[in-house]
Amino acid sequence: MTAALPTSSREWHLVARPQGWPTTEDFALREAEVTAPAEGKVLVRNLHFSVDPYMRGRMNDVKSYTPPFQLDRPMEGGAVGEVIASAAEGISVGDHVLHGLGWREYAEVDASVVVTVDPTIAPLSAYLGVLGMTGLTAYAGLLEVASFQPGDAVFVSGAAGAVGSQVGQIARLKGASRVIGSAGSDEKVRLLVEEYGFDAAFNYKNDPVADQLREAAPDGIDVYFDNVGGEHLEAAISSLKVRGRAAICGMIAQYNATKPTPGPRNLALVIGKRLRLQGMLVGDHAALQPQFVEEVGGWLASGELKYAETAVEGIENGVDAFLGLLRGENTGKMIVSLG
Ligand SMILES: NC(=O)c1ccc[n+]([C@@H]2O[C@H](COP(=O)([O-])OP(=O)(O)OC[C@H]3O[C@@H](n4cnc5c(N)ncnc54)[C@H](OP(=O)(O)O)[C@@H]3O)[C@@H](O)[C@H]2O)c1
Repeated sequence: MTAALPTSSREWHLVARPQGWPTTEDFALREAEVTAPAEGKVLVRNLHFSVDPYMRGRMNDVKSYTPPFQLDRPMEGGAVGEVIASAAEGISVGDHVLHGLGWREYAEVDASVVVTVDPTIAPLSAYLGVLGMTGLTAYAGLLEVASFQPGDAVFVSGAAGAVGSQVGQIARLKGASRVIGSAGSDEKVRLLVEEYGFDAAFNYKNDPVADQLREAAPDGIDVYFDNVGGEHLEAAISSLKVRGRAAICGMIAQYNATKPTPGPRNLALVIGKRLRLQGMLVGDHAALQPQFVEEVGGWLASGELKYAETAVEGIENGVDAFLGLLRGENTGKMIVSLG
């Protein structure tokens, strides 16, 4: 046990359920008391926490695959930090750990749910992104859910984000015949082609997605990795070849919708083309974790796979980081760093 513990910790609470786009008024940064960890727990000083699109869903009071955030309680999410006090066997002060109590400066975490991570292998923030949840989502979604095969032509939306940028690069490294990405700025499009080795990319804000996709993939696509939904999904259904597969990973274009959003108008194409559209949750693919870490870790070490992070400094900017993520202000993984 360490003697001098901090006495208080700032933490973000959800104080109102957003209607449509969240605003800063829906959140409050509050002080909480810090005490020595109870038996079986550790006290962690969070160094980075993750803000993720799925958190928008947890702000609604609806039954889903993750429970809603409770009002006037600290929000949760991935975080990495340093253990500063331990009442648990096998975890020592100074250890670095990954856990699920982000959105706060200090977290008292049950030792059974922390994962020890090694900052000498990769920067700690990487365990929230390229070597963490979003990385596994990309890996499992492409290889397991979409049944990627060498020679496939792959289209990924949200391609400059955490999941999307990794999907495109894994497809390239695994022998895709063509990798196409869409993103929301010309600068992101340039990054995809010039840095990440995509064969083609386009800015979905410039022209209809269907037209731009047809131009980028004149022979069609075998795999669509969907991070966006809406117009992107409809365009992909049109461009998918016979027996094409889509991993339906996210539909960020509708997370702030206040009314039910229409489905793809061309869904009937699924029949004749015998398409497979498969939803996914990363939590179902934990068994792939060792293979994922080994393979992606190797590509990172060799420099074959690149990644970006957009780090917002300071707990007080946590909500702005989340809102910025929804607006596309991030390139790669959006992280809040606590210094
Ligand atoms: N199923 C699962 O288990 C699982 C796990 C992790 C993530 N996901 C999903 O995967 C997707 C990507 O997540 P991520 O963590 O990697 O986030 P991200 O892509 O790093 O960040 C979100 C990006 O979405 C784009 N975006 C926002 N509104 C959009 C719109 N209306 N149309 C098109 N693009 C829009 C923005 O980029 P632009 O500048 O390009 O617009 C923004 O940067 C999300 O849909 C998320 O919910 C699912």
